[in-house]
Amino acid sequence: MEQRILVIGATGMLGKPVSLQLHTDGFKVKVLARDPERAKNKLGNGFEIVAGNVTDPGSLMSAMDDCDCVHINLSSSTFKELHDVEYRGSLNIIRAAVSKQLKRLTIITGAGVRKENTWAPMIRTRYHIEKEIISSGVPYTIFAPTHFMESIPKYIKGDRALIFGRQPHKIHWVAAADYAKMVSHAFQRKDTENKKFWIMGPEAFTMEEAITMYCKVKCPGISISRIPLSMMGFMATITFKSQFKYVVKTMKYFNKAGETGDPQEANELLGKPITTMSMWLNEK
Ligand SMILES: NC(=O)c1ccc[n+]([C@@H]2O[C@H](COP(=O)([O-])OP(=O)(O)OC[C@H]3O[C@@H](n4cnc5c(N)ncnc54)[C@H](OP(=O)(O)O)[C@@H]3O)[C@@H](O)[C@H]2O)c1
Repeated sequence: MEQRILVIGATGMLGKPVSLQLHTDGFKVKVLARDPERAKNKLGNGFEIVAGNVTDPGSLMSAMDDCDCVHINLSSSTFKELHDVEYRGSLNIIRAAVSKQLKRLTIITGAGVRKENTWAPMIRTRYHIEKEIISSGVPYTIFAPTHFMESIPKYIKGDRALIFGRQPHKIHWVAAADYAKMVSHAFQRKDTENKKFWIMGPEAFTMEEAITMYCKVKCPGISISRIPLSMMGFMATITFKSQFKYVVKTMKYFNKAGETGDPQEANELLGKPITTMSMWLNEK
């Protein structure tokens, strides 16, 4: 029988490629979106789209009615969203999945979601979400990818590329298309149940190296500026902007915590990511 997967966050930068890949691979994909019309414009045909919000448990229960599995792709850009949408929203999804006795609950968290990094608020929140999922009793798969190549353009602001802090660590940048195939493979294999997979691309570059490569191909001549984290912290304090404060905390975390996690099991069971930075730059 065809599996029907509910994707929550299907319009997102990483939710969309996953939804398209699941559809291509023959799954029935149902999408829960806050704005179904906008979701339809983004995703195109082939998806059943229902209105809902992760802050509304009733909408989750009815969206899951005829589903076998659920994939969570939520994000936040303020501390309030981190608590209300990512944390409370994920708990609502987990409760609904338990009550509907779903066959699989999958989620994207991040490679850095480990106990030693829980000093960072976003990691602490995702660490607790992972724990709730693991103890829920619903068969689960947790995807813990490192940085995505698709996030590089976010560092370009106007005619400058900005690097916040030293960002000294090498990162195995991964392409969203490779990750999407891995998620789809996980739904096709029983032996991927109750596992957490670290997902990393084939080559490692620092943030500066990756941004420099991107700019060379996509926006030659653009200048790259480095902004000290202390200056960003000061600006966030005097502007009182919650989004700014959230970005500063995130960049401090990236600056301090190097990439950790072993991708071997993910590569063996889900298929190794193959897209290199230059392949990705030339494909786009
Ligand atoms: N970028 C990276 O390099 C990277 C690396 C590892 C992990 N991650 C993690 O991957 C996750 C997903 O990232 P992304 O870039 O795909 O995020 P995104 O583009 O911001 O997408 C978030 C999705 O959540 C949906 N959403 C937000 N609030 C909602 C609510 N109240 N109810 C229902 N849906 C809601 C949005 O839907 P609508 O706005 O359409 O309603 C959107 O589809 C994040 O947690 C991120 O931290 C990212």
